[in-house]
Amino acid sequence: MSAHGTPIPMTSHPAGPLSGTALVPGDKSISHRALILGALSVGETVITGLLEGQDVLDTAQAMRAFGSEVLRDVDGTWRVQGVGVGGFAEPDRVIDCGNSGTGVRLIMGAMATSPIAATFTGDASLNRRPMARVTDPLALFGARAAGRSGGRLPMTILGAEHPVPVRYTVPVPSAQVKSAVLLAGLNAPGRTVVIEREATRDHTERMLAGFGAEITTEETAEGRVITLTGQPELRPRTIAVPRDPSSAAFPVCAALIVPGSDVLVPGIALNPTRAGLFETLREMGADLACENLRDEGGEPVADLRARFSPDLKGIEVPPARAASMIDEYPVLSVVAAFAEGATIMRGVKELRVKESDRIAAMATGLRAGGVRVEDGPDWWIVHGRGHGNVPGGQRCESHLDHRIAMSFLVMGMAAQSPVGVDDASPIATSFPVFEPLMAGLGADIRRSA
Ligand code: S3P
Repeated sequence: MSAHGTPIPMTSHPAGPLSGTALVPGDKSISHRALILGALSVGETVITGLLEGQDVLDTAQAMRAFGSEVLRDVDGTWRVQGVGVGGFAEPDRVIDCGNSGTGVRLIMGAMATSPIAATFTGDASLNRRPMARVTDPLALFGARAAGRSGGRLPMTILGAEHPVPVRYTVPVPSAQVKSAVLLAGLNAPGRTVVIEREATRDHTERMLAGFGAEITTEETAEGRVITLTGQPELRPRTIAVPRDPSSAAFPVCAALIVPGSDVLVPGIALNPTRAGLFETLREMGADLACENLRDEGGEPVADLRARFSPDLKGIEVPPARAASMIDEYPVLSVVAAFAEGATIMRGVKELRVKESDRIAAMATGLRAGGVRVEDGPDWWIVHGRGHGNVPGGQRCESHLDHRIAMSFLVMGMAAQSPVGVDDASPIATSFPVFEPLMAGLGADIRRSA
C-alpha cells in the first residue's frame, strides 16, 4: 500500500534551542532484512524495535503474500513464521512495495530462484526507478523479468525453475543489488559469489551469518568478495533492531545548526558502512560526541550527543565515503548551507536515482532559500553562508521523497524565515514520528494549507 494519498504541506518556523532526548525509530535496512530473512527461515523469528514505517509495513505485507505468517503483538513485538529457503508460495495478488526501492529489490532477489511468478508495483516515485540493476544479475540465476520500458515497474519476475549459482561483480555501489543477489543465491545450489569494489552497508551479510548461513567476506585487490553457500536451513532468530542512523541524522543536524541546542540521540546503529555522515560532520567542526559504544545483536551501537556548533566549515567530502552516507547527503547539504565556505560532494551519481533526483531536489530548494549551489552529473557544491545568514523563506517540493521533506524542515528551524514543503506525507515511509519527535525537542513545524 502506498503511503501517498492526500499531500500534507508543512512549514518549519525558526526554532528556539532544541533540547532533550530523541528516540528515533528502528533501522529501515535492518527491519526489511529481519522480515525477509525471518520469512526464509524455518520456525518463528521474533523482532523487537522494528521500524513501523510504511516501507517496512509494505515488506511485511509482501511476506504474507509469499506465504509467511507475520503478526504484530500489542506490545509492538513482531513474529514471523518462516517458510524456509525455497518455500515461498506464489502470490495471488500484485505486490505493492509503495515507495521502497529496498523492499522491492530485496524481495525480487528472495523470490527469483523459486519456481513462482510475482508482479511488483509501487508508487509514482518507485515506478520511475531503475530495476535492471537487479533483474540483470537475477537473469544469470535463470530468472526472467518483464516490465515497462527502461526496466521500470510494474514488472513480473518469473523465478528460475532450476537456478544455478552466480559469480557477479556489482557495477554500481549498491547494497540493494548486492543483497538481491545474495538472497537469490540462498536457493541456488553451490556457491554464489558477489564482488563489490566499494564497500556498501553489510547488514545482509551480518544477518545471513546470524541466521546460520555459511557466508564469508574477503578483502581482495578486486574488492570485497562475498561467498554464500546456497540452500542452507536458516535458523530463526530473536532480533532487536537498533535505531536508524539515517533517521538520527535529522535531529543531530538540526541540533548543530539551531543556536543553543543540546540533543541526545541514544541507541543508534553505528555500523561503519553507515556512519560516514557523523565523521563528515566532525570534520566540519561539529560538536558531536559518540558515547557508550557497544555491540547489540551483531551491530555496533552508540549514543550520539549533538550540540549547537557555530563555527562549522565547508569541506570536501571524500568520494570513498559516499556509500557510507549515501542517504545523508540531503541533510548534509542543509548543514553545509549554515557552514562557512564550500562543501564539495563528488562521486555521488547514485543520488540521482533515489526516491527522487536528490541533487536536483535539494539544489532547487536551497537556491530558492538563498543558498548558492552548483551541480553536475555526479557532483554538487553548496556554498555556505555561515550561521545566521541563511535567508530561507521558500516553499520546496518533496518529490515523494521523505529525506527531501525532512531536510527542508530542518533548514526552516535555523533559517531567517520559515521553510515549507508541499508534501510531508512521505516522511511516514521511514520516520513516522518525525513531527512529534521534533516538536518534543522544541521545533516549530506546522501543518500549513
Ligand atoms: C539500502 C541501500 C541504499 C540506500 C537505501 C537502503 C539498503 O540503496 O540508499 O536507502 O537497505 O540496502 P542502494 O543500494 O541503491 O545504494
